[in-house]
Amino acid sequence: MAESDVERTGGPRPPAGQQAASQPIVVAYKSDPVRGAVWSAVFRSELPQASFHMWPEIEAGEEVEYLVAWVAPPDLERVLPNLKVLFSIGAGIDQLNLDAIPPHVTIVRMLDPDLTRGMIEYATFAVLALHRDIPHYVSDQQASRWSYRPLQRAEERRVGIMGLGVLGQALAESLKFFGFPLRGWSASPKTIEGVETFSGPEQLGAFLSGCDILVCLLPLTEDTRGILCHATFEQLPKGARLLNAARGGHLVEDDLIAALASGRVDCAILDVLQSEPPAADHALFKHPRVMITPHIASATLPQAAAQRVCRLIERHRSGLPMEGVIDRRRGY
Ligand code: NAP
Ligand code: GLV
Repeated sequence: MAESDVERTGGPRPPAGQQAASQPIVVAYKSDPVRGAVWSAVFRSELPQASFHMWPEIEAGEEVEYLVAWVAPPDLERVLPNLKVLFSIGAGIDQLNLDAIPPHVTIVRMLDPDLTRGMIEYATFAVLALHRDIPHYVSDQQASRWSYRPLQRAEERRVGIMGLGVLGQALAESLKFFGFPLRGWSASPKTIEGVETFSGPEQLGAFLSGCDILVCLLPLTEDTRGILCHATFEQLPKGARLLNAARGGHLVEDDLIAALASGRVDCAILDVLQSEPPAADHALFKHPRVMITPHIASATLPQAAAQRVCRLIERHRSGLPMEGVIDRRRGY
């Protein structure tokens, strides 16, 4: 667990379990109601001392200390004045307006082995598809064309991962098997066996210059919004390939369309777009060298996610650190 992912709640700690036993636990859930039914059942069996309320059926908002949500209500402070922890249903928290969440509320993002496994599957598939020219073959099939492309060895295709966090590192581990030379870029310096690492804006150019396939697994923050843009594409080797499985806000879509036209970028796989769903006539939706999936790279499975949140609430009430606490200053 990264130190930055750990919250120390501070102040004198009650003996483990004492707070949990003596005070009611009131939890509100504000997201998809079908998944909510699974959450409710898990809470009944795993944390029976908690009362679990589906939004908007909250009788006494002042009793709610824990909120599970994808997006918080805009008037959060008024409706849940005693909220202590907001659990994001997603791994990313860019959908939350941090300014509207009181500073004393701890924000916890979703870290879940199933979610990581989902991303490993999707991003490994996508890197292999880019490596093996699959966007071209899909397009050829649609045009009833039968044409071969020369095979390239994985050892000759350099893969660069932007974002060496939970998901980026898991992908790097999975890609080692195929023999791609791997490199990665993060905010702080890292040492990862078998991965050439770069960090910070000053090393971005050196990183990009060796990415035949560029993968974005960054969080969306003020620093990373629009990072997949003309200036970035210009620093890639000509004919590089792109996978964006992070957020649509990372990509300047018109810049990608221009880079595809100039040949700077050969083909792309996008799981996320600026606007989801895109308009039916969106230029990237119809582009013959772009494959698009509807933000399905990975997802939080409700059963496991609810179990995880039950354990985190127990830890919080025992004064223990929780995994996945976000750092508001960094924005992730
Ligand atoms: P994470 O563990 O927080 O890792 C983020 C990584 O990005 C870290 O290595 C961090 O560097 C690096 N980073 C952040 N800001 C940077 C900057 N300005 N410059 C360079 N590097 C920077 O996040 P994660 O769990 O791997 O998830 C990444 C993102 O994937 C999520 O935020 C979400 O948007 C997206 N996601 C998408 C899907 C989907 O279905 N498409 C599913 C799940 C998640 P340090 O290590 O130095 O802090
Ligand atoms: C999905 O996109 C997530 O952030 O979990």
